[in-house]
Amino acid sequence: MNNPLTFRPATDSDCRLVWTWANDPALLAHTFRTHEPIPWETHQKWYKTTLLGTTRHLYIAEHDGLPAGYVRFEDNHLGEPEISVYLAPPCRGRHLSAPLINDGTRHHLLLHPDPRPMTAWVRIENAPSLAAFRSAGWHPDPAPAPYLALPAYRFVFPS
Ligand SMILES: CC(C)(COP(=O)(O)OP(=O)(O)OC[C@H]1O[C@@H](n2cnc3c(N)ncnc32)[C@H](O)[C@@H]1OP(=O)(O)O)[C@@H](O)C(=O)NCCC(=O)NCCS
Repeated sequence: MNNPLTFRPATDSDCRLVWTWANDPALLAHTFRTHEPIPWETHQKWYKTTLLGTTRHLYIAEHDGLPAGYVRFEDNHLGEPEISVYLAPPCRGRHLSAPLINDGTRHHLLLHPDPRPMTAWVRIENAPSLAAFRSAGWHPDPAPAPYLALPAYRFVFPS
């Protein structure tokens, strides 16, 4: 199927949905910073700065006109432009991750051109995400490296 996902910038009205997604145990299990659920107030503050679009860019991916997940772009603490991705549970296992990653990156770069290669850091035990970036044609560094003190593979595109 061509372009199974469409992308649009996140808006105020997505705040609660994105909070629900941020607290998905499948995501919390693989984040680098915390495994604890994110309080609503903390999320609201983070979301407000996110919508300003000065430090990070958040896009909602839609499938058949319904929100399916997100792609987020933000420079990490190493100064690399980094992508983070999420698919809602009903949309997983349907080979939507490659378009999420690649079409999402293209969509972002059309709006915010950046000559630097895009980076993704994925924890070594996050099998679905490792497979997703590989199947999107991204290549990991040959060996894992510590990222925020946790072992992870760095994917760079184009490599
Ligand atoms: C990462 C994520 C977007 C992947 O989406 P998905 O729907 O599971 O993956 P897809 O159906 O698109 O499949 C992509 C590839 O992963 C493989 N895969 C899926 N689940 C897998 C698993 N548990 N173990 C190994 N491979 C897996 C698929 O077989 C497919 O490989 P192929 O293209 O060679 O056939 C999704 O699992 C997710 O949102 N996870 C929670 C958030 C997260 O971890 N984000 C990443 C943080 S960097």
